[in-house]
Amino acid sequence: MCGIVGYIGSRNCVPIILEGLRRLEYRGYDSAGIAVLRDGAFFIRKNAGKVADLANALGRENGTLTAEVGMGHTRWATHGEPNDVNAHPHWDQHQQVAIVHNGIVENYMAIKTKLLRDGHTFLGGTDTEVLAHLIGVMFEECGDLTAAVRGALREVDGTYGIVVISPKAPDKMVVARKGSPLLIGVGDGENYVASDASAIVAHTRKVVYLDDGEIAEITRHRVRTMTIDDVTVEKQVQQITLELTQIERGGFEHFMLKEIHEQPETILNAMRGRLMVDEGDVRLGGLQNTIGKLLSARRIVLTACGTSWHAALVGEYMLEQIARVPAEVEYASEFRYRDPIVNIDDVVLLISQSGETADTLSALREAKSKGATVLGIVNVVGSSIARESHGGVYVHAGPEIGVASTKAFTSQLTVLALLTILLARARGMTRERGVVLAKELATLPEKVAQVLQNTQVFRDIAEEFKHCHNALYLGRGANFPVALEGALKLKEISYIHAEGYPAAEMKHGPIALIDKNMPVVVIVPKDGIYEKVMSNIQEVRARRGRIIAVANEDDTDIDQLAEFVIRVPRTYGFFGPILNIIPLQLLAYYIAVARGTNVDQPRNLAKSVTVE
Ligand code: AGP
Ligand code: GLU
Repeated sequence: MCGIVGYIGSRNCVPIILEGLRRLEYRGYDSAGIAVLRDGAFFIRKNAGKVADLANALGRENGTLTAEVGMGHTRWATHGEPNDVNAHPHWDQHQQVAIVHNGIVENYMAIKTKLLRDGHTFLGGTDTEVLAHLIGVMFEECGDLTAAVRGALREVDGTYGIVVISPKAPDKMVVARKGSPLLIGVGDGENYVASDASAIVAHTRKVVYLDDGEIAEITRHRVRTMTIDDVTVEKQVQQITLELTQIERGGFEHFMLKEIHEQPETILNAMRGRLMVDEGDVRLGGLQNTIGKLLSARRIVLTACGTSWHAALVGEYMLEQIARVPAEVEYASEFRYRDPIVNIDDVVLLISQSGETADTLSALREAKSKGATVLGIVNVVGSSIARESHGGVYVHAGPEIGVASTKAFTSQLTVLALLTILLARARGMTRERGVVLAKELATLPEKVAQVLQNTQVFRDIAEEFKHCHNALYLGRGANFPVALEGALKLKEISYIHAEGYPAAEMKHGPIALIDKNMPVVVIVPKDGIYEKVMSNIQEVRARRGRIIAVANEDDTDIDQLAEFVIRVPRTYGFFGPILNIIPLQLLAYYIAVARGTNVDQPRNLAKSVTVE
């Protein structure tokens, strides 16, 4: 589920692999390792902990290590604790093959039991080591590494992105993909493999994206792609547009802070060429072939995970209340397993930053198999969800490196707002009303920039609350999902327990938690339910809870009730979440910094969750 990078060529692969692994660090991982071919044997080094630990150990003990074929891995443990032994690469019983693997071998127990019966011994507890042994057995039988990988994968249930090398086949790497992204970087007399373009973009921009079920045999001068049954597949070489500057911190202390500050621009990018202010309408090129289905849809089911699920919740409010389209939101992780009722006149809208989230991808396939039209709102161009959808809209937020999603969220909301205007107009909203909405949406980048101007208030709040153990986030209407997202951001990077609630729901239970130590963040814009939320704030105050309010610039009443007030400009109700989340991102960020946690790579989290 984490990072893979591999190289075959005539340069020393060790620094190339280590640099690639550093570029993949943002994905979140717990151990790192490298295997290279040298003097007809493997050299393998791996450890729990960071890529820097691996690089230091290599530098200390093997300063002159050079090799022309090798691979590296960052592991996000699924099977077996994150220790040195379980770190990848893994090898087989007779050390004929080494493998790095992202994903899960679901039937590893059955395979392992059989191998144990045949006398195999295992060093650790991973599913990957079992796969290494299986490939090793097949390799000994047939003597052809590619055929051995194909044979082994035929017996595997689950997901994988793998690279396999062997000192017995020193001029090739064999790679395969099913459910876990893998791409091949094409060079001149050298080739690369990576789970993510950022690992190799410094070396080549020409890539081949492997599809599920494909295997490739990579030599220095050639890439041969085939199916598991050895049928050759002709692949197109594509050009990646990623710039190195996009994946560097550019003067900011953390990627997360950089990405928070990029939002005026990324929100604008999501609208660019799509929002036609004068016509009060929207054009979305990626929906060209599916627009008929979308306009006649009986309902829209939005499905996603984590932050993207929060975006879906806001989308439900927008679609129902502005466009009057029946909408429902489902956790993608639940969708597939409850035999959902999906009809051919439903549109299922998948929202995903990475486009690789396994739960969301499974939901897509489930909906597709039931005949629905599936559309994606995705950030990563060419990702699985983008490719498998019937149509969709890219959010164009650029690479999001911080594990905690920020700019992708506001871009998703912007695209949902565009989609809402498009549907509303198609369903009879007047041009005048469309113009009002479009004009307001167009002001958001500027308003977001205003919110980002003063960060001192967040530092002050962070100092005050950095030692708290719990926090409550309250909001109503479309700001309820914002409360959920604010709480998730705090949990993810500061490890403070936080809950989001609809403000009025608090009195039905969570109010029991409130005492003089409890920070309560309330989103209280001057909208139709302002007075109601003010009453909820009074309820918190009566129990001595400490109020941090996100309120409009012209709200003077809030000063009497809140200990801290964070100001945001006014906007049209349903666009509010795009503004109101910004302070909550900053709040989580500065609290995490004050607590000294690893903001960009929080513990236990991975950037893209490609296992179910
Ligand atoms: C967000 O901060 C999280 N790291 C996580 O909840 C994320 O939003 C979720 O895993 C979905 O990812 P996706 O958007 O790439 O599908
Ligand atoms: N399932 C494998 C393990 O636990 C792979 C983990 C990963 O995707 O990083 O080692």
